[in-house]
Amino acid sequence: MERNKACWCGSGKKYKICHGPIENRIKLHKKKGEIVPDIEILKTPMQIERIKKSAVINTLVLDTVAEKIKAGMCTEEINQIVHQVTTENGAIPAPLGYEGFPKSVCTSINNEICHGIPDAAHILQEGDIINVDVSTNYEGYFSDASRMFAIGEISKEAQRLLKVTEACVNLGLAQAKPWGYLGDIADAINTHAEANGYSVVIDIGGHGIGLAFHEDPFVSYVSPKGTEMLLVPGMIFTIEPMINEGTSDFFIDEDNGWTAYTKDGGLSAQIEYMVLITNEGAEVLAR
Ligand code: MF3
Ligand code: CO
Repeated sequence: MERNKACWCGSGKKYKICHGPIENRIKLHKKKGEIVPDIEILKTPMQIERIKKSAVINTLVLDTVAEKIKAGMCTEEINQIVHQVTTENGAIPAPLGYEGFPKSVCTSINNEICHGIPDAAHILQEGDIINVDVSTNYEGYFSDASRMFAIGEISKEAQRLLKVTEACVNLGLAQAKPWGYLGDIADAINTHAEANGYSVVIDIGGHGIGLAFHEDPFVSYVSPKGTEMLLVPGMIFTIEPMINEGTSDFFIDEDNGWTAYTKDGGLSAQIEYMVLITNEGAEVLAR
């Protein structure tokens, strides 16, 4: 692209002061053999604006769940809340029908790692921990975040797991900055989890998001510092490690084909932020 022309991203700035320097810097890293993002996954200002609107709805949905969740409630009720608040705001729950997923939200209790399917038979009990994972499609722009909820009084062990999981995500977020690497985020998370005697699930990770529910890159939470994809302004992806009390090994429900459970029956927790890499650092678009 010609240096004095308006940048392709629609920012209104000249290419030479907008994406020109970014693309040059990416090329230098590529020459060194590093994994670099395709230019196509860098979001434009217009796309970011629309993705943010989706994220506002996603956050409203999670806030509504946070207000209403309690012991005695079944997970199907959470599904109904998510479905209703999402559609009332003109959006579509992204999980519904995604690769055949039957519900509008994932609800994963205790030893369920992720992709739990809401069900009228799953009644929340005092002492449970649950991950509610909400994903929104608003006019073709996607957002995704999940939170952990403690139902009533939970055990000391469960409290510690939730505290460490939250710290892991925040330590990962602190490493999310331009010209770093996805592996920096992973290493911060894995190191803190292991220091606390926990393990991080290896084969299920985060993902790019924005124009589709799941985009490049795959985001590992166990890779070493300085490895994996280069972080570049305009990338949007999720930080969503799954932290297990015991072994990181898991198995998938044979009947529903979705739900992942810890192999040893130990507790698992997950918190998901959706993050934009900016020129200065990172911005959490949904949490
Ligand atoms: N929010 C989950 C993720 O982070 C969604 C999994 S796909 C679904 O990828 F169909 F189960 F929703
Ligand atoms: Co996700």
